[in-house]
Amino acid sequence: MVTAKLFSAFVAIASLVDCGVNAFDDNAARSKAVYQVVTDRFALTDASASPTCDTEDRVYCGGTWKGTEEKLDYIKGMGFDTVWISPIVQNINTTKNKLGEAYHGYWTQNIDVLNSHFGTEADLKSLVTTAHSKDMYIMVDVVVNHVAATNGQNFQADSSYGPFNITSRDFHSFCWVEDYTNQTQVETCWLGDENVALPDINTEDTSVVSTWNNWIKSLVSEYDFDAIRIDTVKHVRQNFWPDFVSSAGVHAIGEILDGDPAYIAAYQNNSMNSVFNYPLFYAIDTAFNSTSASMSQVVSALNNNRIQFKDTTLLGNFISNHDNPRFESHVSDIALRKNALAMIYGVEGIPYIYYGQEQGYTGGADPANREALWLSGYDTQKEMYTYITTMNAIRGAAMNASSTYNNNQATIIGQDEHNLVIRKDPVISIVTNRGSKASNAGMSITNTGHSSTELLDAVSCTTYTTDSSGAFTASIKSGLPAVFIPSSQKGNLCGTTTAATTSSPASAGVREVAYSSFVLAGMISVIALCLF
Ligand SMILES: *[C@@H]1O[C@H](CO)[C@@H](O)[C@H](O)[C@H]1NC(C)=O
Ligand SMILES: *[C@@H]1O[C@H](CO)[C@@H](O)[C@H](O)[C@H]1NC(C)=O
Ligand SMILES: *[C@@H]1O[C@H](CO)[C@@H](O)[C@H](O)[C@H]1NC(C)=O
Ligand SMILES: *[C@@H]1O[C@H](CO)[C@@H](O)[C@H](O)[C@H]1NC(C)=O
Ligand SMILES: *[C@@H]1O[C@H](CO)[C@@H](O)[C@H](O)[C@H]1NC(C)=O
Ligand SMILES: *[C@@H]1O[C@H](CO)[C@@H](O)[C@H](O)[C@H]1NC(C)=O
Repeated sequence: MVTAKLFSAFVAIASLVDCGVNAFDDNAARSKAVYQVVTDRFALTDASASPTCDTEDRVYCGGTWKGTEEKLDYIKGMGFDTVWISPIVQNINTTKNKLGEAYHGYWTQNIDVLNSHFGTEADLKSLVTTAHSKDMYIMVDVVVNHVAATNGQNFQADSSYGPFNITSRDFHSFCWVEDYTNQTQVETCWLGDENVALPDINTEDTSVVSTWNNWIKSLVSEYDFDAIRIDTVKHVRQNFWPDFVSSAGVHAIGEILDGDPAYIAAYQNNSMNSVFNYPLFYAIDTAFNSTSASMSQVVSALNNNRIQFKDTTLLGNFISNHDNPRFESHVSDIALRKNALAMIYGVEGIPYIYYGQEQGYTGGADPANREALWLSGYDTQKEMYTYITTMNAIRGAAMNASSTYNNNQATIIGQDEHNLVIRKDPVISIVTNRGSKASNAGMSITNTGHSSTELLDAVSCTTYTTDSSGAFTASIKSGLPAVFIPSSQKGNLCGTTTAATTSSPASAGVREVAYSSFVLAGMISVIALCLF
């Protein structure tokens, strides 16, 4: 009897656990590290092939779901557990003035058919199954706002849009979105241009709404996707999204391409789990762009986000993606690149890394930022591959050490024009935009929360010991970031470590004056934090 009860309890628990293996709730989502691929550019089915791929041609270069599946270990090797893939549905094959192909997947023709350029239904299912077998997750990109037309605005000349009826009220009548401050226009007019018009779906129509909700529900269950990324969210009425997201039944992150936290926050507050952190992106993109930029805008972005968003720990943090010029296209200094990445890992939120960052890709505005990754040879010895691995490993060790790490907000415990000290227990990060030519500097760090503790800077593999008040003097070399975690919690980080030798601050670097203003600023911000 007892045994039978125990057994059925066990079965019940086991089935619960099984249900939770794939799709993630908010709490699980916070622990994820996401790697974004452009499916067509990430990996080929034939791993021995290496065709050229001129991004300016805007044509399919041959990447497939099978290719992505075969390269999951390359992704996992950096510590990512989630892969965001391009939209999977059938796209238009021709455009009005032969302006390239839909290799990116954002030019929908029929949502009920797969894009055969990327493979078959079996290939896609195999990608998901293999990912799950490696404790990895697949986030699928979906476009709801529009389809694409092959005949400019004369979309009725296209024969079919799958379930959407050309002759009915399934589309908004034609007008271009021209005034982005007019939300009605943003939601009901069309994106695109005369070459590739993007007919705007009438997401006010009840049968369109139920078509979308049923579609996303069956798509997620058919392919066992774990999360969705939603394109052009602000171009659909905000109250469309809650039912769509709950029909999906998985974590949803939305793209609202706007730097105003109040505008974007409304979407997280009212519509979906997460949104991309464009306000922080713009601030980082500028602050780490040059050694003369100021760090203060990053602090403002963080503070403003916390005022506006319901939950900043769920935001998607990034410095590069397929829509913006790669951060690396305008910043060649590796120290600045490393600092910008340390910044997104140092604060709350979910890190999103765009394929190619680990290989030092530098493509500018679309289409230049969609380079073929096979041309890199998937070199796992590259400096940024190793660095990103370290960033994910520090985060992993911190999660192991603290069950609240993912829910902790970061606090700025030191700040001046060019340096920030960020505390997100148990991790302390120092980021700087002084650049790789900067002289070495000692920085006095207080309020670490770790008293008389050996801390490891997992970037340089150097150890420090804090005093009983939790203070220590960190040594910053070549403008690199430093990320500290108690040595006792370091997990697999840094096989061998060296004890820091610099005990006197400002020896060769930051002058005493600059140094004290740094400490002062730190104290001021600590006091400010205590007040609020
Ligand atoms: C586009 O081309 C692919 C490959 O030739 C084909 O399978 C698909 O049906 C075409 N799509 C459309 C919308 O015609
Ligand atoms: C906003 O755009 C809509 C649709 O184009 C238009 O009807 C309306 O007049 C615009 N409103 C303002 C205030 O410009
Ligand atoms: C398209 O038309 C068909 C036939 O009238 C109808 O069953 C279907 O619901 C329509 N689709 C949408 C999305 O309105
Ligand atoms: C980065 O600096 C360059 C050169 O000073 C400038 O042209 C560019 O606009 C800057 N970009 C950002 C995002 O600040
Ligand atoms: C979002 O919700 C938070 C609290 O839940 C609130 O403080 C904030 O003002 C809201 N933001 C917007 C833009 O509605
Ligand atoms: C976290 O802990 C697990 C289980 O002890 C261990 O396998 C893993 O390597 C740790 N992760 C890191 C990044 O230290």
